[in-house]
Amino acid sequence: MLKIFKDSDKVLRVKATPVAIPLSIEDETLALAMFQHIKESQDPELSKKYGLRAGVGLAAPQVGVSKQIIIIHIPQGDKTNYTYVLANPVITSSSVRRTYLRGGEACLSVDENHPGPVYRYHKIKVSAYDILSKSQIEINAFGYEAIVLQHEIDHLNGILFYDRIDPENRRKYPDAIVI
Ligand code: NI
Repeated sequence: MLKIFKDSDKVLRVKATPVAIPLSIEDETLALAMFQHIKESQDPELSKKYGLRAGVGLAAPQVGVSKQIIIIHIPQGDKTNYTYVLANPVITSSSVRRTYLRGGEACLSVDENHPGPVYRYHKIKVSAYDILSKSQIEINAFGYEAIVLQHEIDHLNGILFYDRIDPENRRKYPDAIVI
Protein backbone atom coordinates (compact mmCIF):
# COMPACT_ATOMS: atom_id res chain seq x y z
CA MET A 1 0.00 0.00 0.00
CA LEU A 2 1.46 3.37 -0.96
CA LYS A 3 0.96 6.57 0.99
CA ILE A 4 -0.96 9.07 -1.13
CA PHE A 5 0.23 12.64 -0.73
CA LYS A 6 -2.38 15.39 -0.63
CA ASP A 7 -2.64 18.69 -2.44
CA SER A 8 -1.31 20.47 0.66
CA ASP A 9 2.04 18.69 0.07
CA LYS A 10 4.58 20.67 -1.94
CA VAL A 11 5.55 17.64 -4.06
CA LEU A 12 2.18 17.99 -5.83
CA ARG A 13 3.09 21.52 -6.88
CA VAL A 14 6.52 21.16 -8.49
CA LYS A 15 7.66 19.94 -11.90
CA ALA A 16 8.70 16.31 -11.84
CA THR A 17 12.08 15.19 -13.22
CA PRO A 18 12.33 12.94 -16.31
CA VAL A 19 13.55 9.42 -15.55
CA ALA A 20 16.54 7.80 -17.23
CA ILE A 21 15.75 5.19 -19.91
CA PRO A 22 16.09 2.25 -19.51
CA LEU A 23 14.57 2.53 -16.07
CA SER A 24 16.62 1.92 -12.96
CA ILE A 25 15.45 -0.94 -10.76
CA GLU A 26 14.27 1.67 -8.28
CA ASP A 27 12.10 3.50 -10.84
CA GLU A 28 10.68 0.29 -12.27
CA THR A 29 9.81 -0.97 -8.78
CA LEU A 30 8.06 2.32 -8.04
CA ALA A 31 6.05 2.19 -11.30
CA LEU A 32 4.92 -1.38 -10.65
CA ALA A 33 3.99 -0.54 -7.04
CA MET A 34 1.87 2.37 -8.32
CA PHE A 35 0.17 0.05 -10.81
CA GLN A 36 -0.49 -2.47 -8.03
CA HIS A 37 -1.93 0.27 -5.81
CA ILE A 38 -4.43 1.36 -8.47
CA LYS A 39 -5.45 -2.23 -9.25
CA GLU A 40 -6.06 -2.87 -5.53
CA SER A 41 -7.99 0.39 -5.17
CA GLN A 42 -10.43 -0.95 -7.79
CA ASP A 43 -10.90 -4.26 -5.99
CA PRO A 44 -13.99 -3.87 -3.76
CA GLU A 45 -12.70 -6.19 -1.01
CA LEU A 46 -9.15 -4.84 -0.87
CA SER A 47 -10.20 -1.21 -1.08
CA LYS A 48 -12.58 -1.73 1.85
CA LYS A 49 -9.95 -3.58 3.87
CA TYR A 50 -7.32 -0.88 3.38
CA GLY A 51 -9.67 2.08 3.17
CA LEU A 52 -8.59 2.98 -0.38
CA ARG A 53 -10.41 5.30 -2.73
CA ALA A 54 -10.75 3.82 -6.20
CA GLY A 55 -8.71 5.59 -8.85
CA VAL A 56 -8.14 5.14 -12.58
CA GLY A 57 -4.74 6.81 -12.62
CA LEU A 58 -1.80 7.80 -10.50
CA ALA A 59 1.28 9.98 -10.95
CA ALA A 60 4.55 9.52 -9.05
CA PRO A 61 4.32 12.92 -7.28
CA GLN A 62 1.12 11.61 -5.65
CA VAL A 63 3.20 9.00 -3.85
CA GLY A 64 5.81 11.58 -2.89
CA VAL A 65 8.27 10.99 -5.74
CA SER A 66 8.92 13.92 -8.08
CA LYS A 67 9.59 11.85 -11.19
CA GLN A 68 7.83 11.61 -14.55
CA ILE A 69 6.01 8.30 -14.12
CA ILE A 70 2.25 7.85 -14.52
CA ILE A 71 -0.11 4.92 -14.62
CA ILE A 72 -3.58 4.68 -16.14
CA HIS A 73 -5.84 1.72 -15.48
CA ILE A 74 -9.41 2.06 -16.72
CA PRO A 75 -11.72 -0.95 -16.43
CA GLN A 76 -13.53 -1.63 -19.71
CA GLY A 77 -16.22 -4.04 -18.58
CA ASP A 78 -15.66 -7.44 -20.16
CA LYS A 79 -13.07 -6.04 -22.57
CA THR A 80 -9.37 -5.72 -21.87
CA ASN A 81 -8.63 -2.90 -19.44
CA TYR A 82 -7.15 0.31 -20.79
CA THR A 83 -3.76 0.21 -19.10
CA TYR A 84 -0.57 2.23 -19.49
CA VAL A 85 2.47 2.42 -17.23
CA LEU A 86 4.50 5.30 -18.66
CA ALA A 87 7.69 7.27 -18.16
CA ASN A 88 8.32 10.76 -19.51
CA PRO A 89 4.96 11.20 -21.28
CA VAL A 90 4.66 14.20 -23.61
CA ILE A 91 1.56 15.43 -25.42
CA THR A 92 2.77 15.88 -29.01
CA SER A 93 -0.47 17.05 -30.59
CA SER A 94 -3.98 17.93 -29.52
CA SER A 95 -7.37 18.69 -31.05
CA VAL A 96 -8.94 22.13 -31.12
CA ARG A 97 -12.11 20.52 -29.79
CA ARG A 98 -12.40 20.30 -26.02
CA THR A 99 -14.22 17.86 -23.77
CA TYR A 100 -15.13 17.65 -20.11
CA LEU A 101 -16.73 15.30 -17.62
CA ARG A 102 -20.28 16.27 -16.75
CA GLY A 103 -19.71 15.45 -13.09
CA GLY A 104 -16.33 17.22 -12.92
CA GLU A 105 -13.05 15.53 -12.03
CA ALA A 106 -11.70 14.05 -8.82
CA CYS A 107 -8.24 13.10 -7.63
CA LEU A 108 -6.86 10.77 -4.98
CA SER A 109 -4.77 13.71 -3.69
CA VAL A 110 -7.78 16.02 -3.31
CA ASP A 111 -10.25 15.35 -0.52
CA GLU A 112 -12.73 18.15 -1.23
CA ASN A 113 -15.23 18.30 -4.08
CA HIS A 114 -14.43 20.87 -6.73
CA PRO A 115 -17.44 20.93 -9.03
CA GLY A 116 -17.25 22.56 -12.42
CA PRO A 117 -16.11 21.61 -15.88
CA VAL A 118 -12.41 20.87 -16.39
CA TYR A 119 -11.86 21.51 -20.09
CA ARG A 120 -9.45 19.09 -21.75
CA TYR A 121 -8.43 18.37 -25.33
CA HIS A 122 -10.85 15.88 -26.86
CA LYS A 123 -8.07 14.09 -28.76
CA ILE A 124 -4.37 13.90 -27.98
CA LYS A 125 -1.25 12.13 -29.13
CA VAL A 126 1.16 11.16 -26.39
CA SER A 127 4.73 10.03 -26.83
CA ALA A 128 6.11 8.08 -23.86
CA TYR A 129 8.31 5.24 -22.75
CA ASP A 130 6.06 2.25 -22.03
CA ILE A 131 7.41 0.59 -18.89
CA LEU A 132 5.45 -2.65 -19.46
CA SER A 133 6.71 -3.30 -23.01
CA LYS A 134 10.03 -1.49 -22.43
CA SER A 135 9.69 0.56 -25.61
CA GLN A 136 8.98 4.08 -26.78
CA ILE A 137 5.34 4.32 -27.91
CA GLU A 138 2.81 6.73 -29.39
CA ILE A 139 -0.68 6.76 -27.93
CA ASN A 140 -3.72 8.15 -29.71
CA ALA A 141 -6.39 8.84 -27.14
CA PHE A 142 -9.77 10.55 -27.18
CA GLY A 143 -12.66 11.18 -24.84
CA TYR A 144 -12.43 9.77 -21.33
CA GLU A 145 -9.02 8.11 -21.84
CA ALA A 146 -7.62 11.42 -23.14
CA ILE A 147 -9.03 13.22 -20.09
CA VAL A 148 -7.38 10.77 -17.68
CA LEU A 149 -4.04 11.00 -19.51
CA GLN A 150 -4.13 14.81 -19.38
CA HIS A 151 -5.05 14.74 -15.67
CA GLU A 152 -2.06 12.52 -14.88
CA ILE A 153 0.38 14.45 -17.11
CA ASP A 154 -0.76 17.63 -15.33
CA HIS A 155 0.47 16.10 -12.06
CA LEU A 156 3.98 15.97 -13.56
CA ASN A 157 3.80 19.74 -14.02
CA GLY A 158 2.47 20.54 -10.55
CA ILE A 159 -1.04 21.23 -11.88
CA LEU A 160 -4.20 20.02 -10.14
CA PHE A 161 -7.56 19.62 -11.90
CA TYR A 162 -9.24 22.41 -9.98
CA ASP A 163 -6.64 24.89 -11.27
CA ARG A 164 -8.38 24.45 -14.63
CA ILE A 165 -11.96 25.09 -13.48
CA ASP A 166 -12.99 28.37 -15.04
CA PRO A 167 -16.66 29.16 -15.74
CA GLU A 168 -15.47 31.58 -18.48
CA ASN A 169 -14.30 28.57 -20.51
CA ARG A 170 -17.93 27.78 -21.29
CA ARG A 171 -17.90 30.73 -23.63
CA LYS A 172 -14.51 29.85 -25.09
CA TYR A 173 -15.47 26.24 -25.88
CA PRO A 174 -19.20 26.21 -26.63
CA ASP A 175 -18.84 23.03 -28.75
CA ALA A 176 -17.00 21.04 -26.08
CA ILE A 177 -18.08 17.43 -25.87
CA VAL A 178 -19.69 16.49 -22.56
CA ILE A 179 -18.89 13.00 -21.31
NI1 NI B 1 -5.03 13.28 -9.67
